Amino acid sequence: MSRVLITRKLPGAALERLHALHSVDVWDGVLPPEPTVLRERAARAEGLLTMLTDRVDAALLDAAPRLRVVANYAVGSDNVDLEECAQRGVAVGVTPDALTEATADLAFALILAAARNLIAGHEAVRDGNWRTWEPQGWLGHDVHGATLALIGAGRIGEAVARRAQGFSMEVLRVGRRDDLHAALEQADFISLHCPLTPQTRHLIDAAALRHAKPSAILVNTARGAVVDQHALKDALDDGRLAAAALDVTDPEPLPPGDPLLSAPNLLVLPHVGSATHSARARMAELAVDNLLAGLDGRPLPHLARH
Ligand code: GLV
Ligand code: GLV
Repeated sequence: MSRVLITRKLPGAALERLHALHSVDVWDGVLPPEPTVLRERAARAEGLLTMLTDRVDAALLDAAPRLRVVANYAVGSDNVDLEECAQRGVAVGVTPDALTEATADLAFALILAAARNLIAGHEAVRDGNWRTWEPQGWLGHDVHGATLALIGAGRIGEAVARRAQGFSMEVLRVGRRDDLHAALEQADFISLHCPLTPQTRHLIDAAALRHAKPSAILVNTARGAVVDQHALKDALDDGRLAAAALDVTDPEPLPPGDPLLSAPNLLVLPHVGSATHSARARMAELAVDNLLAGLDGRPLPHLARH
């Protein structure tokens, strides 16, 4: 029997498999544990089930010398210092595939919402500003037949491409940085699906945005820091970009007074790409699979890519 710390309560029944075999401590706070609290709670743990809101860094690893496995409840692993884990022989798992379709659904929801001004329309109705049918009211952009640049050629990008096919969109896949600017020049929609790495941090910066059409719409369901938010705000303020719809920001949560929030034509969601009942339950299953394998000394079924 090993000791396992889970840093938030999770949906679904997956944890029962852990409880049956191991001693499980679940942080049940409304907010994630502060780093100092996390270090204390993890001190004797052999396994950790972490969220993207936890930083798994050298300080945490030093505080948890018995740790053998970190199962991150996310497809991304940018909150985990993979190098430090590798040096200590701590295996790191993630939850791919479980959230691919849910995240692609959300990316498409953002494409449609931004293109057709769904939020502004709803607010107008709710606030009593729907006076009549308007020949020129709430005009948006066509999604069907438009050109969609997918930045990041992974599973989620492909799942978005399949949806785009149903809208007769022309899809440009950008898997290499060298292809970015040319794709931005043609795109009506730009959707980000790359992991956050040192190479992709601020990939969408002022220089990249200068290549985008002023009518283009940027959608981000990947990681906030892939976009330089100052450059994004400037582009929206100056009308050099038509709109942005973001499920992820840097930092998260975005403070209510953040300058970005005063930009026009901006829609921000609270990082809900994988937030469907079934995706989150499936992610819990994969995280538990990883944890059980790691505690058993078996290879993790879903290792984080180093
Ligand atoms: C969510 O953003 C994830 O990486 O799972
Ligand atoms: C996630 O599933 C990805 O690699 O796109």
